[in-house]
Amino acid sequence: GTTLATAAGETGRYFGTAVAANKLSDSTYVGILNREFNSVTPENEMKWDAIEPSQGQFTFANADRIVNHARANGMMVRGHALAWHSQQPGWAQNMGGTALRSAMVNHITQVASYYRGKIHSWDVVNEAFADGGTGARRDSNLQRTGNDWIEVAFRTARAADPTAKLCYNDYNTDDWTHAKTQAVYNLVRDFKARGVPIDCVGFQSHFNSQSPVPANYQTTLSSFAALGVDVQITELDIEGSGQTQADNFARVVRACLAVARCTGITVWGIRDTDSWRASGTPLLFDGNGNKKAAYTATLNALNEG
Ligand code: G3I
Repeated sequence: GTTLATAAGETGRYFGTAVAANKLSDSTYVGILNREFNSVTPENEMKWDAIEPSQGQFTFANADRIVNHARANGMMVRGHALAWHSQQPGWAQNMGGTALRSAMVNHITQVASYYRGKIHSWDVVNEAFADGGTGARRDSNLQRTGNDWIEVAFRTARAADPTAKLCYNDYNTDDWTHAKTQAVYNLVRDFKARGVPIDCVGFQSHFNSQSPVPANYQTTLSSFAALGVDVQITELDIEGSGQTQADNFARVVRACLAVARCTGITVWGIRDTDSWRASGTPLLFDGNGNKKAAYTATLNALNEG
């Protein structure tokens, strides 16, 4: 293949990017998007604060711009994210207990129902586990509604959109030996054992010098896949430059291609200047939209698969 999407497609996978609605009027951005990618993830537009700024009042316009662009161009959509401790609207941040639990359930029901049939995979729950060595749940207002909030979120999403794949999504879960990785693994294993609906695990894969691409990354992906879920690389970016960065992107691609149930890769933005990272050059295209060494290494690794 001569583009990321066609090369990934030849292996039966998709290749996606995070998209910001306000950049869909940038012709350089849209040109690269339409040429290289066949899946999109709204970077912020489907988050709770964006979609339900006042309780019970849903504003889908910005998310719809991305969904409509994707559908008009034959791209899949990854929905991101239904339940998360961060980017909650102010009214939810101030809630707890049964009121918050009900608000979460209603939010998931309304949003997943509105987009029913249009979403390939939903990040149903995002970043619910703590960093560090404890393997504990992250403390949050959602967690304080009861330890079952994650399974309630998944059951609610399944009822609202039975066709979307339902994913748990997190970061720093790439190293198989990490306590957080094992904690998520145990959650997924428990869900599969008890019949709680879960179809996929998203590995955000934000890599930098503190959290590099681990040597056991492929082991992590294959171990989760062996539980009977798809795995997806959902927010890939790698700080660095030149050949070192290029090699790291190639390693990530090869790890995914080596795992049959690794069904796709999404990078977290198109050009370096589109990245959430305040400094750095973690993406595949430079600020002018030119292909970087990291792009070529990614494309070549896909074509080896
Ligand atoms: O839209 C408002 C604008 O109205 C306001 O004037 C401006 C002033 O701060 O803020 C704008 O919102 C910002 C938003 O991005 C849109 O640009 C927020 O401040 C900013 O916090 C937000 O950052 C996003 C971040 O998630 C929030 O947690 C990044 O764009 C987005 O890339 C990042 O994505 C996350 C994933 O959702 C989950 N995994 C980690 C990943 C990287 O942090």
